[in-house]
Amino acid sequence: MDKLKEKSSSLVQERDKLTAILSSMTEGVLAVDKEGKILLVNQAASNTFGLRNKVMGRPIWEVLQNEQINPLVKETLRSGEPQISELTNLSPSEKVFRLHITPIRDSQGELGVAIILHDITDLKKLEKMRVEFVANVSHELKTPLASIKGFVETLQEGALNEPENAMRFLSIIERHTNRLTDLINDLLSLSKIESGETPLELKRIKLLPFINKTVATFDDRIRKKRHSLTVNVPDGPLEIAADKALLDQALSNLLDNAIKYTPPGGKITVSATDTAVHIELAVSDNGIGIPEQDLPRIFERFYRVDKARSREMGGTGLGLAIVKHIVLAHGGTVRASSKLNSGTTFTLTFPKAER
Ligand SMILES: Nc1ncnc2c1ncn2[C@@H]1O[C@H](COP(=O)(O)OP(=O)(O)OP(=O)(O)O)[C@@H](O)[C@H]1O
Ligand SMILES: [Mg+2]
Repeated sequence: MDKLKEKSSSLVQERDKLTAILSSMTEGVLAVDKEGKILLVNQAASNTFGLRNKVMGRPIWEVLQNEQINPLVKETLRSGEPQISELTNLSPSEKVFRLHITPIRDSQGELGVAIILHDITDLKKLEKMRVEFVANVSHELKTPLASIKGFVETLQEGALNEPENAMRFLSIIERHTNRLTDLINDLLSLSKIESGETPLELKRIKLLPFINKTVATFDDRIRKKRHSLTVNVPDGPLEIAADKALLDQALSNLLDNAIKYTPPGGKITVSATDTAVHIELAVSDNGIGIPEQDLPRIFERFYRVDKARSREMGGTGLGLAIVKHIVLAHGGTVRASSKLNSGTTFTLTFPKAER
């Protein structure tokens, strides 16, 4: 009798263990017997299908009423063969699942089926992003290439003998070639930073002289647009540990935008502050601003508020994506605030350099 008690209590323990494991799984698990009656449903599966009432012992076809799953379960019960499929349209959820249907046999050799749902929504999102990225790159390459080809043909068809036109066409070709080179360089530097392939060359950088030096390379453009530029960095040794070339690129991209997207005679400020927790570097302008609905997306590659206008200015929408990845590589964060028609501020935060 004691033996029997022992055995039954160890069985209970085993069952509790199994239940605990199944309910902690992120994968949804269901099992049905040879008639399709439900033997087991874990928490993840009940959440996915929104199962509330008692479902044990009820036929899966009635409980799920899912046109994707039911035929597959029937097929596996009939053939004893495992199947893999993808499950979508589980409205209202927009999740995508990989569905594994596997035959199971109990000790008497009776057939049943286990259904396992693996959430692959993130994977699908990444896949979609990759496809979009390739489409975007191709599109950006195609436009200048088509134009180069057009002007080369015009030259070949006789324009070469009209010196004035020929020179003009050549400079258009040159402009598009430069654009292609810029685009490729941006893509290369983005993938280099993102892959983490080349380690950062961290050096202590004194912010005031660093900012002044980068700003100086924009003097001409700032003068031409009659902008006024202020550098606002407190006295004292404000330093960060950063890769100088990358930090220069990030600040340059922000300055480039501030100059580009501010009508002539604008105000641009570059400032650095020590917030005790980290060092903040900000570039503000009083330019055209960014509409609220676009703000969350501007750090995405190729995202431009006004595609036609930005492209006209030679932009491809990679500048801010590069800024973001540079800052992330330094363990920092980036944010933007903006008001349409009144201005934009980009703020980069960096961890404080260790003393
Ligand atoms: N300071 C700013 N003021 C207003 N809009 C801005 C500003 N900075 C960026 N934007 C908007 O965000 C978009 C993305 O900026 P990003 O720097 O990534 O691309 P871009 O300037 O168009 O091209 P690129 O920098 O690759 O030459 C811009 O097209 C523009 O619409
Ligand atoms: Mg830019």
